[in-house]
Amino acid sequence: MRGRVIRGAAMLVLAGPLVLAPSLAAGPGDPIVAARQASMKEMAAAARAIAEMFNGKRAYEPAAFKAAADTLSARAGAALVAEFPQGTLGAPSGARLEIGEARPEFEALARHIGRLADALADKAGNAPPEITADMRMGAGLPMDGGSLLGKRPGAAEADPAKMPAEHLLHLILQDCTSCHSKFRQKQR
Ligand code: HEC
Repeated sequence: MRGRVIRGAAMLVLAGPLVLAPSLAAGPGDPIVAARQASMKEMAAAARAIAEMFNGKRAYEPAAFKAAADTLSARAGAALVAEFPQGTLGAPSGARLEIGEARPEFEALARHIGRLADALADKAGNAPPEITADMRMGAGLPMDGGSLLGKRPGAAEADPAKMPAEHLLHLILQDCTSCHSKFRQKQR
């Protein structure tokens, strides 16, 4: 009797990982999760590269600016939406189940950042050899007292094609933060 209990326990331990693996959420080694996390890291590196070119922490290079903006544009929008299919959400990944519950809002954010990134990539395609004043935050916008990050009513609805590159970058970073605060959780 006792021997059977012990053998049974040993089998449970051995079978543990197999029993636990099939759940609705993706496991830690899920390739879809790994791919989207890698994609997010590439967006982060690209956004950092552009930010540092604008704040002088790294040399401005039109070709590098264009490459980074293209990375953002390629990974935002529809590509971002496609990286979060049902069945890959929730722990242990960093994607909250709310993505499935508030899909339209998630997709709207992905499309919004996509439009901004497309506009930035267009501008970067014609980037001058040096950063010019009209690429800077605030260029072409009424100076009405620290209206950073499009907090002025209506500013976010303005045509991205008419915004200075640095302003687009700040709106892009705002979308990263908005999405993370609602749809991202600590990974387990
Ligand atoms: C529409 C929503 C959304 C947008 C926009 C978004 N993210 Fe994410 N991001 C997520 C979610 C959800 C995760 C968690 C993914 C997971 O762990 O499966 C994540 C994870 C990450 C991670 C962690 C990746 C890892 O290795 O675990 C980084 C870094 C990141 N995002 C950077 C960015 C940057 C930079 C931007 C903007 C340029 C951005 N994200 C825009 C939703 C978004």
